[in-house]
Amino acid sequence: GAVRFGPDLLSLDDLDESQILALLDFAGRLKAGRQVASLQGKVLGLVFLKASTRTRVSFSVAMYQLGGQVIDLSPNTTQVGRGEPVRDTARVLSRYVDGLAIRTFAQAELEEYARYADIPVINALTDYEHPCQVLADLLTIEEHLGTFAALKLAYIGDGNNVAHSLLLGCVKVGLSVAIAAPDGYTPERAVVERARAIAARTGATVEILADPAQAVRGAHVLYTDVWTSMGQEEEARRRRALFAPYQIDDRLLRLAHPKAIVLHCLPAHRGEEITEQVIEGPHARIWDQAENRLHAQKAVLAALL
Ligand code: CP
Ligand code: NVA
Repeated sequence: GAVRFGPDLLSLDDLDESQILALLDFAGRLKAGRQVASLQGKVLGLVFLKASTRTRVSFSVAMYQLGGQVIDLSPNTTQVGRGEPVRDTARVLSRYVDGLAIRTFAQAELEEYARYADIPVINALTDYEHPCQVLADLLTIEEHLGTFAALKLAYIGDGNNVAHSLLLGCVKVGLSVAIAAPDGYTPERAVVERARAIAARTGATVEILADPAQAVRGAHVLYTDVWTSMGQEEEARRRRALFAPYQIDDRLLRLAHPKAIVLHCLPAHRGEEITEQVIEGPHARIWDQAENRLHAQKAVLAALL
């Protein structure tokens, strides 16, 4: 049956090791058609303050395929855009819908929604974390490599929201993580320390490095994300120069394990964080990874709603 956790999914740290593994198993069974779930009559509200292709569409399709519905509650269509407080909005929406998927800037705003809502709140990306992405990433890794133990994921680039959720998610399932980022762009110290504490229990390791070659050496999974995240657009030029040595290209890929897979949460910027050859090459599992957003989020929705 469905996995139990909750009441919210604000951070990957809201799930313990066994809950992550159970969710991945559930998602895999839903994907294979070996398990059914129903959210008939349930409505998920989508509160998106940033653009989205994958997250918005996969949450919507997940709800429809489970027999539920979604409603667009983006701030420009509600009174939030005219200044109605989050704490009021959260309490009112709780009387109508069965859950909220929220994409915003500050993790604190997401937490405020969760504090005042008495329905499940799901992090659909904040500046701090992207937990639903990483559940799909772990599902993809498990499908293609069969295991997590004794494997290493190398994340090359900005120590951003995706890097934070990867750090937490990977070490929980026993997958070691090496992050290569320029000085000043490494992941937040609190997340690294938390990941190290979990890793000490699961047997994984956490390395924060400056040299991409060192991070990638022998890695089984190579992962990257945009150099300039949503909300940082005015820094794009400076970031492009600073991150230039942090591109996943064929030369870097050759340092990895010969059967390494390459992941990217998308959207990708060819010629920046990844080359055209790698994204279109035989190691990439990026389209399976994007598909798995749907299956992983169905498992999350069935568990929470
Ligand atoms: N990877 C991801 O979250 O994509 P979107 O921004 O398109 O939702
Ligand atoms: N780090 C990126 C991820 C997009 C899915 C951003 O926040 O824009």
